[in-house]
Amino acid sequence: MEKNISNLEIRLLVKRLNRFLSMLLLEMKDLSDEDRDLPIRWNIMHMYTSSQIAKILALKRGINPEIAGIAAALHDIGVVKTKSHKNHAEVAERYVYEIIECYNFIHRGDLPRITKEEINLIVNAIVQHSQKEIISDNPFVENLKDVDSLDRYLHGVKTEGPHCERCIKILKEIGIEYVL
Ligand SMILES: [Fe+2]
Repeated sequence: MEKNISNLEIRLLVKRLNRFLSMLLLEMKDLSDEDRDLPIRWNIMHMYTSSQIAKILALKRGINPEIAGIAAALHDIGVVKTKSHKNHAEVAERYVYEIIECYNFIHRGDLPRITKEEINLIVNAIVQHSQKEIISDNPFVENLKDVDSLDRYLHGVKTEGPHCERCIKILKEIGIEYVL
């Protein structure tokens, strides 16, 4: 017998992530491209697409998609703030704390806070995300490294070394065997 699926509804709980994306876009949209390695529109695009990929991989891997998405949205804040890729993962730490504090104390409205445990997961993933050659046993750290590699690949950036290995591994994980 055929099932009527028209009344089905699903909704991912990502209101906190969406609030972060609004806060970040507001801060980034009018920044100048002067002295930047890449134009700010790349950072904006990479922020949105990374957070989408982070959620889908997190769902596949059984980890919290919203926290994975927030880590992805914030992961290159070091580049945005310093205009450079040099040590951007490490220098991001203080900006990530600042932005989360801003969310928790000013912008969250009725939405739940980001808890201490969640902050640790987000910060850990971000400060380690440049070390693509290292495999971590923390699934949020691995998720962010994978997301960063796959997003560049999907945007047509030449992908080599550990980034490339990660892309092939993730694509296999989601059932894609042949990679161009
Ligand atoms: Fe990135």
